[in-house]
Amino acid sequence: MDVRKITIDGPAGAGKSTVAKILARKLGFLHLDSGAVYRAIGYGAKEAGVDVDDESAVSEFAKTVNVDIDNGRVFLNGKDITEKIRTPEGGVLASKVARFPEVREKVIEILREIAKDKKVITDGRDAGTNIFPDADVKIFLTASCEERAKRRYEELKKKGFNISYDEILKEITSRDNQDKNRKVAPLTVPEGAVVIDTTGKSVDEVVAEIEKVVSQKK
Ligand code: DC
Repeated sequence: MDVRKITIDGPAGAGKSTVAKILARKLGFLHLDSGAVYRAIGYGAKEAGVDVDDESAVSEFAKTVNVDIDNGRVFLNGKDITEKIRTPEGGVLASKVARFPEVREKVIEILREIAKDKKVITDGRDAGTNIFPDADVKIFLTASCEERAKRRYEELKKKGFNISYDEILKEITSRDNQDKNRKVAPLTVPEGAVVIDTTGKSVDEVVAEIEKVVSQKK
C-alpha cells in the first residue's frame, strides 16, 4: 500500500510534534502541525484585539486570515510568527479558539489545501478523526500528565521561559480538560489508531515504533 497520509493525535506534551517532525524528514513527508494553525489564529485574534471567548467575533476573524506552513515555519497573513506562538499563552489561546466550529472548519480547509497531492504527517487532536479521516496510518500518543509536564518544562526552560513545573502541570491538565470535553471534535482515539504510551520512552524508540507500523502497511 502506498502510504500517503499519517496522522498523530494525542494530548499536549505527548511528543507528537517532535516525533512527527523527525518521521517527516525520514520518510520524505511534509509535516503539518495542526495545533500551529490554531495557535496562529488565537495569537492573531489577540493581537487584533478580538476577545478570544467571543465565538462570533473569533469566527469572523478566522474567516479573514490566511495561515500557511512552509518548511516548519508558520505564517499569519504572510508574517512569520513561528516563535511567537510557541509559548504557554499561545497554547491557551489556541485551545480557546479551537472550541468554535467555524474556526475548526477554517483550519481543516487550510490544512487540506496545503496537503493537496502531497504525502503528509499531520499531528493534532483530531487529525485522524476529522482532518484526514481517510489517513492510511493513524497513531495516538499518550504519556502520563507528570511526564508530559516535565517534557514541556524542559523545552520551555531551554527556550528561556521562567515558568515553574507546577504551573505547567496545571496548564496542561486544564488544557487536556478543555480539549477532551469540548462539544466539537473533542480529543479521542480515532478508530483504527495504534495507541502508543510514550511514558519512559525515548523519542527514537517512539519513532521506531511508528516506522514499524508504517512499514507493515506497505
Ligand atoms: O498541539 P498544540 O499544543 O500546539 O495545540 C494547541 C491547541 O490547539 C490545543 O490545546 C487544542 C488545539 N488543537 C485542536 O483543537 N485540534 C488540533 N487538531 C490541534 C490542536
